[in-house]
Amino acid sequence: MAYNLASMTVQVRSFAKINLGLRIGAARADGFHELLTVYQTIGLHDLIGVSVSRGSGIEIRCDDPRVPRDQSNTCYRVVEKAMRAMKGKGRVVIEIEKRLPVQGGMGGASSNAVATLLALERVIKKTLPGEERLRIAAEVGSDLPLFLIGGTVLGVGRGEQVYPLEDLPGTACVVVTPEVGVSTPKAFAEWDRKLTLPGSSDRMVELGRGLSAWLSESYSGAPFRRGRAENPLLELVRAGIKNDFEQVVFPEYPELSEGKSALERAGARCAFLSGSGSTLYGLFASRQGARAAVTRLRQQGWAAQATVTLTRRRYWQKFLVSSF
Ligand code: C5P
Repeated sequence: MAYNLASMTVQVRSFAKINLGLRIGAARADGFHELLTVYQTIGLHDLIGVSVSRGSGIEIRCDDPRVPRDQSNTCYRVVEKAMRAMKGKGRVVIEIEKRLPVQGGMGGASSNAVATLLALERVIKKTLPGEERLRIAAEVGSDLPLFLIGGTVLGVGRGEQVYPLEDLPGTACVVVTPEVGVSTPKAFAEWDRKLTLPGSSDRMVELGRGLSAWLSESYSGAPFRRGRAENPLLELVRAGIKNDFEQVVFPEYPELSEGKSALERAGARCAFLSGSGSTLYGLFASRQGARAAVTRLRQQGWAAQATVTLTRRRYWQKFLVSSF
């Protein structure tokens, strides 16, 4: 039986993420690399609309020609798996209003897929068990599961094993999106070529220690915000967080290294590449400082946007746009 849902559309926000540090470990037998990262969702987003009508198949509508409409789209792959798992019937129509850069290091495609999955569940009024959602998300890509949690998220394994961290206060953030497409597999390959392997496990250990210290302080039972001198997000960065991809991506794309310096000069407390790029972000002490930085960066020719980091609570509060 087809659903009598021809008129029902669920629209959701598909938020972006940044990586607050990313350490690359050893290449594994399956071709992936061990990762250790802290993901952080931010306020920038795409809009995703999902509806189910009579018929069969999956249709993707998007004005942006760079977004694929076929099986190679992560939304398509997630819907295929989810419809099978939920024994759903009908034609799934996914509308993507693209605002995030494509291939940008902000997890746009991954976020779109998770947003689609959750909107689809709402449309067909079925709920997948949590482990099933995580399994489907992880099968489609390493960066998907984090969007099932939102807020500040620890990512290990190939990045797909995710653990919610305590919500940190929303922090002003500026995102710079240069017109450069960085291929993630190529960046990993370059990492292997340049920087294998002596020392790479030391780096993982080093970050692990920094994170452990930070986490044990956060979870020691004391109300940590009171005990901390400043924004714990900025403290986390100071705990030795850096993005290993910078070592292979910056030499290849000097413009990105310049973007990082431009963010720092514009007043960022710290600035990093997100994922394998090309997105760069800076964390700021205030929203006002972030806005001033955007003005300055734009004058210098950078595509820059001010936003704020999203706590888990805000992420889910703002997730649903409409259901009609
Ligand atoms: O999982 P995802 O589809 O995002 O990965 C894209 C590609 O990035 C993989 O095919 C692999 O080449 C590389 N990758 C990796 N190690 C990871 C994540 C991704 O080598 N932890």
